Amino acid sequence: MVRLMTERLLLRELALDDWSALHEVESRPEVARYQSFEPRTVAESRAYVAQSYNGAKQDPRETYDLAVILTSDDRLIGRCGLGITDPGQIEAMLWYTMHPSYWGRGYATEAARAIVDFGFRELRLHRIWADCDPANDASIRVLEKLGMRREGHLRENAWIKGAWVDSLIYAILDQEWS
Ligand SMILES: CC(C)(COP(=O)(O)OP(=O)(O)OC[C@H]1O[C@@H](n2cnc3c(N)ncnc32)[C@H](O)[C@@H]1OP(=O)(O)O)[C@@H](O)C(=O)NCCC(=O)NCCS
Repeated sequence: MVRLMTERLLLRELALDDWSALHEVESRPEVARYQSFEPRTVAESRAYVAQSYNGAKQDPRETYDLAVILTSDDRLIGRCGLGITDPGQIEAMLWYTMHPSYWGRGYATEAARAIVDFGFRELRLHRIWADCDPANDASIRVLEKLGMRREGHLRENAWIKGAWVDSLIYAILDQEWS
C-alpha cells in the first residue's frame, strides 16, 4: 500500500468508490483534450478505477496509479501515477491529471514530484519518462518544473481521436534526481 504525503496533498491507493470523484475529473472535455481517451462515461470511469485497483495487487506490481487528495478538504482532485515499462523494472512512465478547478496552483507538480521521488527512492528505478502532446503547455511546464529533460519530438507517432499526433518525450535519471 503506497501512501505519500506532501505539504498539501496525500497520494494514496485508489479505492473502488473513488470512481465518482474521478469521474468528476475525467468526464470533462478539457481534461481529455490532450489525452488518448475521450471524456469518460460513468461506465468507463467505474471500469478504469476497477482496473487500477486490481493493478495495485499485481505481483510484481507494474502500475502505481494513485489518487491525489487535497488534504485540507479531504477531496480527491486528481490522480498521478507511474507505470513500469520494462521487464527489468528499472524504467517507468509518469502521468498526472487534475480537476480543472484546481489547475494552476502547483498541485500537479507537487504530486508528480512525490511520485517521482518514490519511484527513484523506493522502487529503485533508473529512468522515469513521460510523453506529452506538444500543444499541452501546462503539462510541458510541469515536466520542466520537475527538472525533466526533453529527449525527443516524435512526429505523428500516434493516431488519436481521428488524427495523427506528435509526442514530446521527457525523462530524468536517478542520479539527476538525487
Ligand atoms: C497538466 C495538468 C495536470 C497541470 O496541472 P496543474 O495542477 O495546473 O499544474 P501546476 O499548477 O503544477 O503547473 C502548471 C504550470 O503550467 C503553466 N500553464 C498552465 N496553462 C498554461 C498554458 N496554457 N501555457 C503555458 N503555461 C501554462 C502554469 O502557469 C504552471 O506553471 P508555473 O508554475 O510556472 O506558473 C492539468 O492541466 C491537467 O490535468 N490537464 C489535463 C490532463 C493532462 O493533460 N495531463 C497530462 C497528460 S501528458
